[in-house]
Amino acid sequence: MTTLAQLTGALTRLDRELVYTSEDFSRIARFMHDATGIRLTEANERMVYARLANRVQDLGFDSFAAYVDKATTSGDERDRLISCLTTNTTHFYRESYHFDFLAQTVLPELAGRARSGERIRIWSAGCSTGEEAYSIAMCLLQGFPDAASHDVKILATDIDRTVLARAATASYPPGSLREVPKPLLDTCFEPVPGTDHRTPRAHIRAMVTFRPLNLIEPWPFRGQFDAIFCRNVAIYMDAQTQEHIWTGFHRVLRPGGHLFIGHSERLSPALKGSFTIVGNTIHRRNADPASGR
Ligand SMILES: C[S@@+](CC[C@H](N)C(=O)[O-])C[C@H]1O[C@@H](n2cnc3c(N)ncnc32)[C@H](O)[C@@H]1O
Repeated sequence: MTTLAQLTGALTRLDRELVYTSEDFSRIARFMHDATGIRLTEANERMVYARLANRVQDLGFDSFAAYVDKATTSGDERDRLISCLTTNTTHFYRESYHFDFLAQTVLPELAGRARSGERIRIWSAGCSTGEEAYSIAMCLLQGFPDAASHDVKILATDIDRTVLARAATASYPPGSLREVPKPLLDTCFEPVPGTDHRTPRAHIRAMVTFRPLNLIEPWPFRGQFDAIFCRNVAIYMDAQTQEHIWTGFHRVLRPGGHLFIGHSERLSPALKGSFTIVGNTIHRRNADPASGR
């Protein structure tokens, strides 16, 4: 059993000791795996305590066991538990080489197709608080300023409704903006009054739609995407779940469409032949040789 004393330093607001056992951690890890595909190992035991202890106490429980009983049976608390245990770290222009590739290699073709009347869709899967999706929108509008007058849209999804609410508010602190190229800070953002935050200008925000979506559940799409960004999401999942998600991306990307994954992520060996590597963690979707689609 881990006691509060052993976890000193992780928390300051607790006013009583909470019972937290290895069995409690195992139940939470099983729940997270089944609900989200995220794999928690013993190395995460303290992190789980640190992220949940205040909530357990606020609900009046003395033990994690009682909290887990509630969280795994109540819809709202289930969402809250998932929100507490997902890692939402992100910032604008993270892994900026992806945006260079988008601007230089992908965008000219997309702009041509959009101008000839085709529908263009880009998906930010696991978008967290929205910086990735808005960075894509800024990149598009820079190279293709009339994008909004064509059928061009960005879908941004996440399992965590708390981060989606922040994405819709779109108020970003300086730390989140640290990699935004200087000239864009003024042209693409405006100040949020009374704060040191900035928000993307309205025409940029208008290009992005945020929706809740769990990547390990069936996806509701009818059409295909021209590009998918799913970066620093699969890294938290086991190999089987990753393969399931990569296979799904192959299905919903049009042939020739691009998949951007995180710097420490790799497509599963089973996907060899389905994609061609065209840049650092950038993959182009190959057509199926039998159907040509
Ligand atoms: C580290 S953030 C990555 C944000 C952004 N893509 C980036 O690279 O900066 C990972 C996001 O994946 C989301 N996530 C985790 N499991 C998910 C799932 N099963 N379905 C959808 N989103 C998930 C988390 O809620 C979190 O916001």
